[in-house]
Amino acid sequence: MKTIFSGIQPSGVITLGNYIGAMRQFVELQHEYQCYFCIVNQHAITVPQDPKELRKNIRSLAALYLAVGIDPDKATLFIQSEVPAHAQAGWILQCLAYIGELERMTQFKDKSAGKEAVSAGLLTYPPLMAADILLYKTDIVPVGEDQKQHIELTRDLAERFNKRYGDIFTIPEARIPKIGARIMSLADPAKKMSKSDPNQKAFITLLDEAKTIEKKIKSAVTDSEGTVRYDKETKPGIANLLNIYSILANKSIEQLEQEYAGKGYGEFKADLAQVVIDTLAPIQEKYYNLMESDLLDRVLDEGAEKANKVASEMLKKMENAMGLSRKRK
Ligand code: AQP
Repeated sequence: MKTIFSGIQPSGVITLGNYIGAMRQFVELQHEYQCYFCIVNQHAITVPQDPKELRKNIRSLAALYLAVGIDPDKATLFIQSEVPAHAQAGWILQCLAYIGELERMTQFKDKSAGKEAVSAGLLTYPPLMAADILLYKTDIVPVGEDQKQHIELTRDLAERFNKRYGDIFTIPEARIPKIGARIMSLADPAKKMSKSDPNQKAFITLLDEAKTIEKKIKSAVTDSEGTVRYDKETKPGIANLLNIYSILANKSIEQLEQEYAGKGYGEFKADLAQVVIDTLAPIQEKYYNLMESDLLDRVLDEGAEKANKVASEMLKKMENAMGLSRKRK
């Protein structure tokens, strides 16, 4: 059975972008692969986080994984900071990575742009992500398009390590969905939807209430043409909404274009809001039940135990291969 690893940062409540680009795939893949799903809280601290909020978001993300359909009997769900091998292996891979290649990462450039003080962790986050993946002999990493460059770096680091110290790592591949790999901001369709966007109108979270969803979709930036038609270049706002609608309602873009021919954006947006509300309602119901139960801690304890076993074994292999050992040979 091939192995899958993927993570989500608890840097806010996850958005429709995270759900469509990543989490939805996880639910399908857990039936065919050995899966490790991680709450990558050490990645979240590469930018300042309020400790109270972070604690809340970690728990909330764990509950959301289960609420969308991750089955703890099939997949291992755990918190990154509860498996110390991640930070340890991350350090080793940082020592293998070059500053130049880290500075070329688009996400680093985007997140550091215009900032006076940028943490060193923001620069060295991709080798930690590489460690997350490589510790589990991962074959496939299901991610949205924005993470493609980091997976390429992970492959480069794994190959570099294997060449210098012997074949230890499996070289992983990214698995990016054909549609929905890049859901755009509702406030600025040139930017991707992000859970840490300071503009609350830019994203819909999995926990937004019906009224909020209606308001956010109603205020989504579109254009003045007034025709529901897919054109990514000239109508990026409508194209983004059509993408979301098509994926969640399981209808083709052409079908939607026909359905809304001669109808205005108001009706299209109201129907889309309903589709989003209907998609999220059962997830939210499960989520609030889980937050009240003890199941969450049990799942996370078991997940950490299982992940620790696998990850510490690989870390030992890495250390031995590099000579980080006091053995005579
Ligand atoms: N807009 C998006 N469309 C499709 N997929 C997306 N992903 C993120 N944004 C979109 C995918 O979601 C997974 C988890 O992402 P992450 O939490 O590890 O970090 P991120 O990619 O930086 O996501 P955000 O929401 O933009 O977080 P912040 O605001 O904290 O930086 C990944 O598979 C990602 O590709």
